[in-house]
Parts: sequence; C-alpha cells; structure tokens
Amino acid sequence: MTTTIDGTRIAQRIRAQVAAKVTEATGSGRIPGLATVLVGDDPASAVYVAAKRRAIREAGMRDFHRHLPPRATHDDVAAVIDEFAADPHVSGILLQLPLPPQLDASVLIDRIPVTKDVDGLTTGSAGLLARGERGLRPCTPSGVIALLDAEGIPLLGAQVAVVGWGELVGQPLAQLLLRRGATVSVAHEHTTDLAAVTRPADIVVVATGVRGLIGPEHVSPGAVVIDVGIHRTPAGLTGDVRSAELDGIADRITPVPGGVGPMTIAMLMVNTLRAAQWGAEREPVAA
Ligand SMILES: NC(=O)c1ccc[n+]([C@@H]2O[C@H](COP(=O)([O-])OP(=O)(O)OC[C@H]3O[C@@H](n4cnc5c(N)ncnc54)[C@H](O)[C@@H]3O)[C@@H](O)[C@H]2O)c1
Repeated sequence: MTTTIDGTRIAQRIRAQVAAKVTEATGSGRIPGLATVLVGDDPASAVYVAAKRRAIREAGMRDFHRHLPPRATHDDVAAVIDEFAADPHVSGILLQLPLPPQLDASVLIDRIPVTKDVDGLTTGSAGLLARGERGLRPCTPSGVIALLDAEGIPLLGAQVAVVGWGELVGQPLAQLLLRRGATVSVAHEHTTDLAAVTRPADIVVVATGVRGLIGPEHVSPGAVVIDVGIHRTPAGLTGDVRSAELDGIADRITPVPGGVGPMTIAMLMVNTLRAAQWGAEREPVAA
C-alpha cells in the first residue's frame, strides 16, 4: 500500500503555527511584513503573487506590494527594492520571477539584503547556506525537508537521491540534506544511468521539469518519493513522477497538486517570520 503524503494539510498546520507566532509578535508591537514586487503582466506570476499575498494577510502579516509595468527599467526595479530594503516595516522582499527579458534577474535579486531575502536566492544567502551559517533558505527545498520531518521520515543516515540540480531546488536541497546527515546522490541531465542513482535510495526527490521522468524502473520497493515538478496539462497539474505506476511500490509519495506546492508558500510564511525576528535583532523598530 502506497500512502499519499498530504502536503496541503502539513502546510496548513505550519501556516497556523506561523499565524500564532505573528499574533504574539503583534502583541509586542512588531508586525512582520512581506513586500512582493511583480514586474510585467505574466498571468501565472500574477496568480502566484496573489496567492502569496493572500497567505501573508491570512497569517496576520503586513502585505506590501508593487506592480511595475512590463517595460520597467533596471533602475525602476532597483529603486523599489532599495525602498523596501530601507523600510523597517518590511521584513522580507520577494521579487517574482521570471522577469521581462530587458532585466537581469540575478543582479536585481542580489540587491535584496540577505536579512530580507525570504526566497533565499541571493548570492549572499547561497553562501550562508554553503557555510551552514544563519540565513534564509530557499522555500521549495526547505518545504521538502519540512514535509519529510512532518512525516517522521528520518534523514540522519538516510540514502537520498536528488534528481535535478537546478539552482532553485536541487542544489540547495542537496546541501540541506547533507547538513541533516543524509548521504546524498545528485543526478542530472548528463547522468548516464539514472536508475543506478535512484534505486539504492530510501528517499527520491525529483525536481527536473521533465514530465513523468521517474517511474517504477527507478524506485525500489519501500522508498519515499517526493515530486517537486509542476506541469500544466489539459487534464490538470502533473509532476515529474509517474505516480500511478508507483502505487504498491513506493511506501509514500507526494501528489501533484497538493504535495510540495503548498509547502513552498508555507515556507515563505516561515521565512518572513524569521526575517522579521532577524531584522528586529539587528535594528529594533517601533510598530
Ligand atoms: N512545487 C513547487 O513549489 C516548485 C517550485 C520550484 C520549482 N518547481 C518545479 O521543479 C522543477 C525543477 O525546477 P528548477 O527550477 O530546479 O529547474 P532547473 O531547470 O533549474 O533544473 C532542472 C534540473 O533537472 C536536470 N534534468 C533535466 N533533464 C533531466 C533528466 N532527463 N534526468 C535527470 N535530470 C535532468 C537538469 O540537469 C537540471 O539540473 C520544475 O518542474 C519546476 O516547475 C516546483
């Protein structure tokens, strides 16, 4: 019997915990706030930003938002980031990606101070992660770790295969898993024998953007399978794993939708709260 991991329920629990801590912080005069910056009219980005803002408000945090036109220049976006960076009421800044082609995402992301980098994507945050120092970790990989923890799946000494080495998910996830004492193998597009990497694993995490890449030929009986991939199809959302084919083989598996996706937003809430605490330690502010 394969159990489906209910990411929506776990994410709701984490969001409720964040909301309770926000209420405490508000009582002492500090309301955490997230500033979202959206550039252009990409419909998917607008939906993602709206969901993040809704979650922020539901958690009782302050919602700051700026929407810039598709032709916004580097200086326009940089000025908004700098304004939010200087605002003590803004705990975290999120620059929604992708950006229009005239803008260099990595340069603009690096303008966000590490203490407000709730997406964990700046060079500074990547360095803090690599060195195991205090910092904000990218939301999706930390959501995967939180999901495994919530399910009581031990990481210390576990064999974990991470399929996909992208900057957003695979790379930071491999580092987070290593810090938790897992033995980590990373596969990517040049891996010649994918099954040889994934079959020995107790936990297989897939984040490749290749729809249906992983099936029964890659997974040993009893393994836990975490599907990070998201693909929009006429039949709805689907992932990087052929999950129906793993029924009866995997011990536990995340669905798409309802697995890692909701965890990403929950971890954004966690990061905004952490950023607020970090900011308060650095420069105490009145409400
Ligand atoms: N659930 C969420 O909240 C969430 C968040 C972010 C990304 N994602 C999804 O995760 C997936 C990965 O995102 P990303 O930004 O890390 O992607 P990316 O494009 O940066 O990286 C993809 C990685 O997959 C590897 N890869 C490609 N083909 C492969 C193959 N045939 N075999 C093995 N490895 C292969 C590449 O080498 C690369 O390392 C995407 O589907 C994305 O939509 C989901």
